[in-house]
Amino acid sequence: MTDPVAPTPSAAGSEAKPVSVVVKDIVQEYPSENGGVTRVIDRVTLSFDRTGINMLLGPSGCGKSTLLHMLGGVRPMAVKTPTSGSVSIDGKECHDAHDDSVMVFQRYANRPDLSVFDNIAFPFRLKLWKSRVPESEWRRRVADMLEAVGLADKAGLRPAQLSGGQNQRVALARALVLRPKILLMDEPFGALDAQTREEMQRLLIDLYRSWPCLVVFVTHDVTEALMLGDRVIVLSTQPARVADDFMVNEARPRSAAWQRSAEAQSLEERILNQLHASPGKGQVRVTI
Ligand SMILES: Nc1ncnc2c1ncn2[C@@H]1O[C@H](COP(=O)(O)OP(=O)(O)OP(=O)(O)O)[C@@H](O)[C@H]1O
Ligand SMILES: [Mg+2]
Repeated sequence: MTDPVAPTPSAAGSEAKPVSVVVKDIVQEYPSENGGVTRVIDRVTLSFDRTGINMLLGPSGCGKSTLLHMLGGVRPMAVKTPTSGSVSIDGKECHDAHDDSVMVFQRYANRPDLSVFDNIAFPFRLKLWKSRVPESEWRRRVADMLEAVGLADKAGLRPAQLSGGQNQRVALARALVLRPKILLMDEPFGALDAQTREEMQRLLIDLYRSWPCLVVFVTHDVTEALMLGDRVIVLSTQPARVADDFMVNEARPRSAAWQRSAEAQSLEERILNQLHASPGKGQVRVTI
């Protein structure tokens, strides 16, 4: 995986040793309505061995969210059909949510009763993070994150007093304040208008530059995949298999001119061909 963005000094520390995530021969079946089972993921093997932004695309319902959770060690809950295959993080087989992995969802998951500051600081109420990070350190980190996501003057407001984009900034800050090795993002900007989505993409690029980690980012938006990704992985329709997997070597931020270049156009076509090769097709947003 290429990493055109060099880590800044603030990124030194726990990220110095790159994390490795390997899913091998993953098969996931879910109970179907007729009493049988539906295979959702079919023998997917993927390996991530360094920091970088990895984009995961695929038709609607093909199993992206299921696979994304597994990359953090999380198996589907309350399902009688177990996952087969293995998930290894840093060389150790993983059967449960991994402590170094955090997730950001489209629906922010901010607590309505807490201020912006307390929402970002929320993980430090939990035993694991309380024991890992002293209070003076997490308070400093929360203050840094408030600055980094541009919400320093909104620290005392509640989520209902914020816009969608600002709420997603809070969710991103809450994830990055933990300095995760693995950041899993499930269509995080999918509900935002086009302009806010672009602002959030620029913000993610800036935050990644300061706190690089292994990012896996699910999107339906082909342009988003090309503007953000070091690597683009395309899944086929259900049952999901890896249909394509390639690198994008252009440094970020990627310009409008690059977006219009022959290289970008041909990568876009390559992704769309794979998505359209899937019989189910699903929703694909192209904003180039
Ligand atoms: N707990 C469950 N029990 C039964 N079926 C499930 C369960 N979770 C997911 N599924 C089914 O598995 C398939 C894949 O779901 P998943 O959410 O992983 O897909 P996705 O690619 O993320 O979809 P979308 O593009 O809509 O976000 C879907 O058909 C879904 O209905
Ligand atoms: Mg999903």
